[in-house]
Amino acid sequence: MPSSRPASGSRVPAPWRAEIARVLISEARIKRRIRDLALEITRDHSENELVIAALLNGTVLFLADLIRCLNLPLRLDFVGISSYGNNTRPGELIITKELRLDVEGRDLLILDDILDTGRTLQCVHQRLRKLNPARIRTCVLLEKTARREVAFQADYVGFQVPDLFVVGYGLDYAERYRNLPFVGVLHSDQQPTPTGPPQPGLAVVRKVKSP
Ligand code: IMP
Ligand code: MG
Repeated sequence: MPSSRPASGSRVPAPWRAEIARVLISEARIKRRIRDLALEITRDHSENELVIAALLNGTVLFLADLIRCLNLPLRLDFVGISSYGNNTRPGELIITKELRLDVEGRDLLILDDILDTGRTLQCVHQRLRKLNPARIRTCVLLEKTARREVAFQADYVGFQVPDLFVVGYGLDYAERYRNLPFVGVLHSDQQPTPTGPPQPGLAVVRKVKSP
């Protein structure tokens, strides 16, 4: 599995240099890796109709690029889930949008931006399993193993990343940086701290106790 080794020659574009210290995974590497992931997913899902459940909001770029490379029929829906804690320490998980598509008897692929403590994906996996899909698989662009709290493994992983707070290509810090075409690392003085400000209030659809 590819690591997050920085590609030579990938420089932070000028407008971002004050905030982003370095490019961790370049746009070109993301593109190449997504093509490989898509080949694998296409190969594994040729028999049963696929439903993709993408977690909001961090998957937006990953999802758009991945599904254009998937050479199979599929249906797409979204699940909204947020950690109602401070910016870096996970708190109670809150579902902000439920899956609407019927997934009974179908192959379900849950997509997320990053697998960190594992609490988010474990929670979504447990909920969606109750909808009786034939099979559930999970795919993440990034995996950070250093902070894992629950035993959860993704079936498809784009890149392993070190224990750093990363932004870009869908991943945010306080809702910023999602539009960067690469994955980068904030300057150390911009890195979130465990005592960072609380997140703004969320429209609660249903509260879920974290495991
Ligand atoms: P987990 O529940 O700890 O596995 O975290 C999953 C969620 O936390 C992801 O979907 C992200 O939204 C967020 N997250 C975890 N690590 C990072 C990071 O380094 N940068 C941005 N968001 C992160
Ligand atoms: Mg996020």
